[in-house]
Amino acid sequence: MNNSEFREWAHRLADNMADYYENIETYPVKSNVKPGEILAQLPSAPPAENEDMSQIISDFERIIMPGITHWQSPNFFAYFPANGSYPSILAEMLTASLGAQCMVWDTSPAAAELEEMMMNWLKSMTGLPSGWHGVIQDTASTSTLVALLCAREKYSDFAINETGFNDINKLRVYCSSEAHSSVEKAVKIAGIGRKNLVKVATDVQYRMDPALLRKAIADDIVAGFTPLCVVAALGTTGCTSVDPLDEIASVCEEFKLWLHVDAAYAGTALLLPEYSWMIEGIEKADSFVFNPHKWMFTNFDCSAYFVKDKEALIHTFEILPEYLKTGNRGLVNDYRDWGIQLGRRFRALKLWFVIRSFGVTQLQEMIREHIRIARWLEQQVIAQPDFEIMAPVPLSLVCFRYRPSCIIDTEILNKINAELLGKLNATGRIFLTHTKLNGQYTLRMSIGGTHTTHKHVEQAWELIKELAPGCSGF
Ligand SMILES: Cc1ncc(COP(=O)(O)O)c(C=O)c1O
Repeated sequence: MNNSEFREWAHRLADNMADYYENIETYPVKSNVKPGEILAQLPSAPPAENEDMSQIISDFERIIMPGITHWQSPNFFAYFPANGSYPSILAEMLTASLGAQCMVWDTSPAAAELEEMMMNWLKSMTGLPSGWHGVIQDTASTSTLVALLCAREKYSDFAINETGFNDINKLRVYCSSEAHSSVEKAVKIAGIGRKNLVKVATDVQYRMDPALLRKAIADDIVAGFTPLCVVAALGTTGCTSVDPLDEIASVCEEFKLWLHVDAAYAGTALLLPEYSWMIEGIEKADSFVFNPHKWMFTNFDCSAYFVKDKEALIHTFEILPEYLKTGNRGLVNDYRDWGIQLGRRFRALKLWFVIRSFGVTQLQEMIREHIRIARWLEQQVIAQPDFEIMAPVPLSLVCFRYRPSCIIDTEILNKINAELLGKLNATGRIFLTHTKLNGQYTLRMSIGGTHTTHKHVEQAWELIKELAPGCSGF
């Protein structure tokens, strides 16, 4: 492809992209292809000769699109959103065009300095302590792993990095039973061991119980373990419960433990001053992560990780082979020392585009609107005798289930709710996912799509009521 062909295709694809967004509601939200269906349409060997772009794009439409789940559809209510936006897509187009690999300051000074400033902007937008330092990671899973590695190294005075665990083998990490599975993954990768992750029970609102946390730590000390780190969750994946940070932070302070805060989804709500209660006590914590790629209209991937002790972070990860030495070391941020990977995408650009293009006020309005719609849905569920709310709705996730008066058996309720979810998703009109709360099958309706409006949620709720099976047959 030469430059003028590239220009032509870029224009055509820009049109296709705009068409896609114009018509996004005509696609089934959740792809309904069968396992292996896409694979079977792909040639098993690569082409020896070049193929025409028009053929490649027509195959994209014919083979790939049917296997896509439309995360940007306003009727996507599954998991948590990975919402994007037009300004963010434009930035990604530029990022791809530049193709810059931003491992150190020298490899693109603008990328490093924009990242530094974007992290400062996010810090002030969310109310995180001004003395903390931020860096963009790919995901919250990576950020939590980075936090655990730092906690481990700081505890061992960086000895584990140097000589391995030796006789340090009884480290313990604590989180609630509702914490995300990425904590468990991080504990495994960090060499701490899954059995050394203590899952503290929650209260009736699925928040970590600080008294039980304190007891677990004290008991572990008596039993000869070494408590290392606590991971508090603001906005758990199952039901967006918010752990009581201030009380947890005091326990960590008492026992001198690293406190990492996982606000992967809920962190975006900190843009709203009325949500600052979620981070009361944050100054006692050590690290914090939230994903602008979940709810802040910034395309995947973009995870904002903040630390109190920048030196401990760098000391944990820095490594300096001859071929990476530059003349500006110490004067600038070389972000390859702030995390696991060496090569880094230029992710700060999309944050810059998003924050400037929307402005903080509009971002706040959009987030507030999602929360308002979620509260509206909560009220509809409460008003409908055959449905029930399964957890408080502090943010924009509504957890509910169908519970007609004719059924009281938990197993049957679980089954009919699983079936209801299957039927809803099979329509292609909406996509929801589920969790289990206290063993009870729960439908999760997560409202956070960039293009999701009240009308979409109202239509979804009508569909849910319509497909609920009623009492006949039970
Ligand atoms: C609370 C919480 N933490 C961590 C994660 C993992 O996020 P990521 O996909 O960025 O690793 C999720 C994902 O939904 C989450 O809900």
